[in-house]
Amino acid sequence: MLPATISAIVPDIRLCRVDIEALVRDWFGDLGSENLRRPARDFSTLAGIRDWLAPGELETVQGFKALKRQVEWLAGRLAVKALVSACLDASLSPVDITVAHEPRGAPFLPLFPGRCLSITHSGRWAAAAVSLDSALAIGIDIERLSVPGTQGFLDLVFSTREQAALDRSDPLALARGWTLKEAYLKYIRRGFHRSLHQVELIEDKLLDGGRPAPVQWTVARTGPDYLLAVVFGPRPSKAVERS
Ligand SMILES: CC(C)(COP(=O)(O)OP(=O)(O)OC[C@H]1O[C@@H](n2cnc3c(N)ncnc32)[C@H](O)[C@@H]1OP(=O)(O)O)[C@@H](O)C(=O)NCCC(=O)NCCS
Repeated sequence: MLPATISAIVPDIRLCRVDIEALVRDWFGDLGSENLRRPARDFSTLAGIRDWLAPGELETVQGFKALKRQVEWLAGRLAVKALVSACLDASLSPVDITVAHEPRGAPFLPLFPGRCLSITHSGRWAAAAVSLDSALAIGIDIERLSVPGTQGFLDLVFSTREQAALDRSDPLALARGWTLKEAYLKYIRRGFHRSLHQVELIEDKLLDGGRPAPVQWTVARTGPDYLLAVVFGPRPSKAVERS
């Protein structure tokens, strides 16, 4: 049993969250109390790993240098596999459910190219979301609530006019803005290939290049210490993806 929870964000979007702490405890009992900030370990000897990962995926997980990255990546893939089995095709074996990436890093499901997929991992949580409606695009992001309120962080994430309206002593407001903006960058499939300053949260409206973005969103706590943002809307035009 995976420590995974599947929920409906809106009728056409399903989200699967994996609790990395529980996963480590269940799958890697010997690691339970260890700090994940350690060198990579050999995952190929884990009981049952080949029931979940395709040979190429096992190779990827073996290639990471740090245990934390291995576990986060694995948890993200398990979230995708659980989600696809539960929501798209229960007859598929987890090994056959794989993820590929567009040139700029956006993930997609080769078996379901019409469905939009988004993945995030941060600290305790990994999550994947899939749209059941092929016209709907999504982007998700999880961040810790304890974002640094330093000027360097603010300058990196927020435009001058956003900073003017932000209460920088409010960690929830900072984390909310940061998480939403990252989820939006994933929604347009650009990631950090688009500047965070091009995307602004002004009076609770997401603007892209100064214009309202045609999206809706939710932001909710995941456990006491994390925020999960889901941005969704029509598939962005190729022009937005390229801009
Ligand atoms: C996507 C991005 C905004 C999110 O970063 P993050 O908060 O550190 O990481 P998260 O765990 O929330 O998200 C990682 C997932 O985002 C997804 N992702 C990566 N690039 C993406 C893109 N262009 N659009 C949508 N999703 C993307 C991937 O699925 C990735 O998970 P995976 O590697 O396990 O498949 C950022 O990492 C990025 O833009 N990466 C690609 C470009 C890059 O590497 N730039 C380097 C410095 S400029």
